[in-house]
Formats: sequence, structure tokens, C-alpha cells
Amino acid sequence: MKLFLDTGNLKEIQAMVPLGIVDGVTTNPSLMAKEGGDPRAIIKAICDVVQGPVSAEVVATEWEGMVKEGRELAAIDPHVVVKVPFTRDGVRATKILADEGTRVNVTLIFSATQALLAAKVGAAYVSPFVGRLDDIASDGMGLIREIVEIFDGYPFTTEILVASVRGPMHIVEAARMGADVCTCPSSVIEACFKHPLTDIGLEKFLADWAKAQAGK
Ligand code: E4P
Repeated sequence: MKLFLDTGNLKEIQAMVPLGIVDGVTTNPSLMAKEGGDPRAIIKAICDVVQGPVSAEVVATEWEGMVKEGRELAAIDPHVVVKVPFTRDGVRATKILADEGTRVNVTLIFSATQALLAAKVGAAYVSPFVGRLDDIASDGMGLIREIVEIFDGYPFTTEILVASVRGPMHIVEAARMGADVCTCPSSVIEACFKHPLTDIGLEKFLADWAKAQAGK
């Protein structure tokens, strides 16, 4: 399963990419707004660092504007994936952009029917938001299970990109279900490194080694 970083923060991306575990980045208007500056310049800088798919979201809400903005975003760098919200206009814009060869990530997916419609118009990714469903006492990972089952039965090339990830167990469950991608804040990826037995084990190895060296 691929891991994407869900952030617009270049420093976070620069810190994580050298570890070799980051396959791409997703951004959204809220994340980009936090960064300030010129969003398109930031997207370009992120692409240069990541050298993998970088989702940049349109803010237009009618299809003509989405297509225009999508084309402009796609022109920033070949790694840009145009992110479009799941609306009727979003679906129409996705069809046009996908037919032109632009990769589109259809975002704000909260049901299996939405994922199916996005796949039918050629989305490269669908982004179901598991954390936001959990937040309202709905089964976020249950939605991923449904979409995996549906996509498995058809020759869609659309990848399931698990979004709105809140903790490492979302990553574990997504991988067990066979999701294609999980996009995570860097805090969630950091949490995946931690295990007290690793720390205790390393401390003991080093202490034993030091004792043996001192006794030589
Ligand atoms: C996905 O592409 C979105 O940027 C993101 O995962 C939303 O997560 P949130 O619900 O934590 O805002």
C-alpha cells in the first residue's frame, strides 16, 4: 500500500521524504490556507521534493471553472493530480479532465455510490474520508471495505485513497483491506515508528555491548 503525506507543509515533507516511505502528497484548500504564500509555487516545490503524485485541489464550484482551474494546476508539474470535490459539477469536470489525460482525485467521498460514479468517469483516485465518518459515529473503514469489494468486481483503474486518517489503526485496517493508498498527517506516520519494546530492546543491546567492551 502506498503512503501519501496529507499536508501542504514543505518542511514536513522535506523531513519525511528522505526516509523513503512517502509515495506522494495530498493537499486541500484548508491545508494550503494554513501555509500562506503562493499556493501554486508551494505545489511546485512539493512536486520537486516528492517526485510522486501531488494532489492540488480546485476551489471553483461549477464545472467550467473546475476544468479551467484543473488545467492550470496540471500545468504546474507533471506530478500534479487535480483534486475535485464530489458534486455533480465535479463529476462532469472529472470526466472532461480524465478524457484529456489529466489524473483526477475525486475528494469528499462519503458513500460507495459516490466512489462508483467517480470511478465510472475515469477518476485516477477516489478519496473516502474515514475519520470524518467516524466523527459522526459512522463506520469509516466499513466504507473502505465496501468500495474495495465493488472495485474488485470491475476493471476500474481508479485507486482507493483512504483519507481523513486519524491514527495508525486506520493504516493497518486500510492495508488489510487492500486499499491502494493511505494519506496521513505526518503525526500519524510518526506514531507508526513507535513501539516501547523496540526502545527497551535497543537500550538493552547497547548496554550489553558497552558492558562487554568495558570488560575487554
Ligand atoms: C484528503 O485528501 C484530505 O486532505 C484529508 O485527508 C482530510 O482530512 P481531515 O478530515 O483530517 O481534514
